[in-house]
Amino acid sequence: MAALFGRDLLSLADLTSSELHELLELATQLKSQKLKLQCHQVLGLLFSKASTRTRVSFTVAMYQLGGQVIDLHPNVTQVSRGEPIQDTARVLDRYLDVLAIRTFAQQELEIFANYAKIPVINALTDLEHPCQVLADLLTIQEKFGSLAGLTLTYVGDGNNVANSLMLGCALAGMNVRIAFPSGYAPDAEVVEKARNIANHQTEVILTHDPEAATKGAHVLYTDVWASMGQEAEAGDRFPVFQPYQISQQLLSLADPEAIVLHCLPAHRGEEITNEVIEGSQSKVWDQAENRLHAQKALLASILGAK
Ligand code: CP
Repeated sequence: MAALFGRDLLSLADLTSSELHELLELATQLKSQKLKLQCHQVLGLLFSKASTRTRVSFTVAMYQLGGQVIDLHPNVTQVSRGEPIQDTARVLDRYLDVLAIRTFAQQELEIFANYAKIPVINALTDLEHPCQVLADLLTIQEKFGSLAGLTLTYVGDGNNVANSLMLGCALAGMNVRIAFPSGYAPDAEVVEKARNIANHQTEVILTHDPEAATKGAHVLYTDVWASMGQEAEAGDRFPVFQPYQISQQLLSLADPEAIVLHCLPAHRGEEITNEVIEGSQSKVWDQAENRLHAQKALLASILGAK
């Protein structure tokens, strides 16, 4: 239960395969069972980007565990006035028990974690979105009973979600296929890490062919074509990404039992059609709910709730 006690989660690669499975098991248990923190612990949320799901699910998870949350928007702290990360980290370390950070550069998160002794959680960087993928794997496990041997196909931008999906699927014993337009590949170092984790036991496939990638897949996944901070590029990206839209036609190539996931927020008519996201194979609302259960398990494990 206390496998992650006192640890950071900066990347999904910080977990072993068995730790990942234990977290998913705990998340499943927490849907019906209550755990409480041993003392009144406080989570800080330092988010430099907008968030609905991550902010609210972390907050509710911490309240349900009996803890409290402080929302530290950069604009209401000295961070926006240029206080060095190293100084902010060492000060927050003296007040908080755990800190979740949403920012741009992974390096900023890593500096924070180096200077703060308290556990630091990646609540999304440009490189990774590990908490999202914990909830995704929980949703897939609920549908199929287990994860090993399943195939997940991600169609779209090789962004932070694609990066964390590669790591998460490799850790879970799943095959992963990423179909993306030329010039929008996932991070090369993360691809190598995922292939090392998979160790030739499962596939980590990169392709420009969304139809070939979708054939027989058990999970079809997409995300927005322009992530936060890339809004100015959206106009240039749309024509390039058009062949990578999840439509009913693309979905028909997947396994007949396949589910469709999207981390949300979604842009209907761009990366996914309204018909698919509202269709019977869409599990996006269960997936969004599972952010709460997966992050509650993560906090309980890191803080040693009983
Ligand atoms: N999927 C996700 O991280 O949602 P938010 O940006 O709303 O937190």
